[in-house]
Amino acid sequence: MDIAKVGIVGAGQMGNGIAHVCALAGYDVLLNDISDDALRAAIALIDKNLERQVQRGKIGADEKATALGRIRGTSDLTELGQTDLVIEAATERETVKIAIFEDLVPHLQPHTILTSNTSSISITRLASRTDRPEKFMGFHFMNPVPVMQLVELIRGIATDEPTYQACLAVVERLGKTAASAEDFPAFIVNRILMPMINEAVYTLYEGVGSVSSIDSAMKLGTNHPMGPLELADFIGLDTCLAIMNVLHEGLADTKYRPCPLLTKYVEAGWLGRKTKRGFYDYR
Ligand code: CAA
Repeated sequence: MDIAKVGIVGAGQMGNGIAHVCALAGYDVLLNDISDDALRAAIALIDKNLERQVQRGKIGADEKATALGRIRGTSDLTELGQTDLVIEAATERETVKIAIFEDLVPHLQPHTILTSNTSSISITRLASRTDRPEKFMGFHFMNPVPVMQLVELIRGIATDEPTYQACLAVVERLGKTAASAEDFPAFIVNRILMPMINEAVYTLYEGVGSVSSIDSAMKLGTNHPMGPLELADFIGLDTCLAIMNVLHEGLADTKYRPCPLLTKYVEAGWLGRKTKRGFYDYR
């Protein structure tokens, strides 16, 4: 099927990156968020990130202008009914995502593919709350979206082959590489990454190392671009905790128990870079 118009729900960290790469690849993008202020901030950030690519010689100034011209913000979710592919990139909370699908589904065209950028929640369960489980997929980007090469594609139990192939074609047009994952808690990337981050928090909690020694050990000792605690701050500690809870509940194994220190930071509102405080202080 031919996808020309992409609707994105949520203009936060992931949603604005997804809008950025879709527009650059030539899709018309309708970016939805509940507030006009959030939309304005997201489009300003896309402008800044595109400019960064112009300055580094990755794209031309004309490509930047064309891409920006392809993005329109709307606070009216029902407008996304006019798109061919919807990528939901709202908060990583199942109740929020289901409420969005319930509001959106009555306005969708029959052919529209509905996807979620969820990093851990069951695709099969989300799909079952829509009118189109066969046209529902997991479409999971990595942060920062314009830089990271991977998209995880996750089929729910009912996802049909044409839907999978259409999403694969979108990933290829974005210039990215797809990894196909089965629908089990946290899929591939977060099934492996989050226990590592959680273990780094335990390492801190138990006093094995300081924040800087844990991060230097992993950066210099294993060639990771960021240490695990720096990466946790970058992803958001609330997101890390939400994913650990999905693993813990979904796989019912104590090895996925979230570290109490991670829980405490989230309870304090120390969520990492976005609140200017996490394992590091960004104030
Ligand atoms: N938009 C566009 N370009 C961007 C960008 C953005 N938002 N952020 C960074 N860049 C570009 C820079 O312009 C630069 O480009 P060049 O290579 O052309 O110079 C390049 O990315 C590197 O950026 P910097 O030089 O500013 O900084 P850096 O070298 O320290 O790299 C980083 C930054 C790319 C974020 C790197 O530290 C990194 O790869 N970190 C690990 C990120 C990671 O693991 N992400 C996955 C998280 S897990 C996830 O997302 C899944 C989930 O569900 C939680």
